[in-house]
Amino acid sequence: MFDFKYYTPTKVVFGKGTESKVAELIKEFGGTKILIHYGSGSVVRSGLLKRVTDTLDEAGISYVTLGGAVPNPHLGLVYEGIELCKKEGVDFLLAVGGGSAIDSAKAIGYGVANGGDVWDFYDYKRQATGCLPLGVILTIAATGSEMSDSSVITKEDGLVKRGYSSDYSRPRFAIMNPELTMTLPDYQTACGCTDIMMHTMERYFTQGGNMEITDALAEGLLRTVKKNAIILRDDPNSYDARAEVMWAGSLAHNGLTGCGNDGGDWMTHKLEHELGGLYDVAHGAGLAAIWGSWARYVYKNCLPRFKKFAINVMDVADEGTDEEIALKGIEAMEAFYRSINMPTNLRELGITASGDDLAIMAHKCAVGVGGEMGSARVLNEDDMLNIYRNSQ
Ligand code: NZQ
Ligand code: ZN
Repeated sequence: MFDFKYYTPTKVVFGKGTESKVAELIKEFGGTKILIHYGSGSVVRSGLLKRVTDTLDEAGISYVTLGGAVPNPHLGLVYEGIELCKKEGVDFLLAVGGGSAIDSAKAIGYGVANGGDVWDFYDYKRQATGCLPLGVILTIAATGSEMSDSSVITKEDGLVKRGYSSDYSRPRFAIMNPELTMTLPDYQTACGCTDIMMHTMERYFTQGGNMEITDALAEGLLRTVKKNAIILRDDPNSYDARAEVMWAGSLAHNGLTGCGNDGGDWMTHKLEHELGGLYDVAHGAGLAAIWGSWARYVYKNCLPRFKKFAINVMDVADEGTDEEIALKGIEAMEAFYRSINMPTNLRELGITASGDDLAIMAHKCAVGVGGEMGSARVLNEDDMLNIYRNSQ
């Protein structure tokens, strides 16, 4: 077991109708001039944005709005948001939407609080010393950004997708009403379930630490999301399944399922970020498409964990050699992805990548991680290229 820090300052307000609490929460955390930041319009179409602005109007809270955060959110809009906040004297950010709107808001918050070029943080050139305070109304269970310390932004020039993490950006509050996720397309619901599971799996397939309590939480979370993803495939309006998945999404990425481990592997995420940057695919689908190739490449280096995963999460019988059990677990995971209409390779993701593109992604990925990275197995640029090739 390794020493660890666990810091989750976000106040969670969970349940039906909880978006009506937004004004009192903003006041509680000292916001007086708000930037409401959202995506490409789902919150307009659903009427959520109107309900939020009505609530702020009634409470006498002043705000400006900025929509347009796209999946794999762009740096250009972040710059626009920073200028708007400065011009309007914004002192609190409210992200209404999914990971893209939340991450874009976090980046705006860094830009306002630190000055200079906000991309510096995502380009590993300097560390932030603060962030504007941020609240969230979540509309998709997926990234866990509503409680996480991370944000992921894509620089349009060169299609570079990079993440930056610091506790400053952890939201002050997160409003989570599972009903708000019922307007999601089925594909996005499945992408979200995939991402949630992957955040826990990244922390699970490691070489060190491995506390029993952390494993029990992680395996329980994975089994819960696996079961409820199938329920939602068949009944998208199941409130209870929406609620299970939504809370799992937050717990999967607020640090809980990594306590005592060695920090996680994270290579499936890093490999996916290049796919998202270059081909603009949905994050969860990109993860599903790359995971099997990654798992087959690394499982022999992390056999006890793959065996445990197979038995405790994928219900594989404890029969045969460790390698056989581990491989059956990987196959079962891929079968699960297919059962919720997620891809298990690049072709199914809709990508026909040239050899040059694979090499570019492997190179950018290696640069992005500082040469090599991974816990289940440390990967260098050649390994990354092999995993991309094997995922075709
Ligand atoms: O933009 P709108 O119109 O809102 O539509 C979105 C978008 O098209 C739609 N949507 C969201 N809620 C909806 C809805 N449509 C109907 N009804 C609703 N209730 O769903 C689509 C996806 O939304 P997005 O916010 O992009 O999804 P997600 O939450 O999966 O975020 C993905 C981004 O987060 C990053 C990913 O790389 C990607 O850029 N990540 C952020 C992390 C973090 N900050 O901790 C960790 C993750 O590993 C991930 O990398
Ligand atoms: Zn993710």
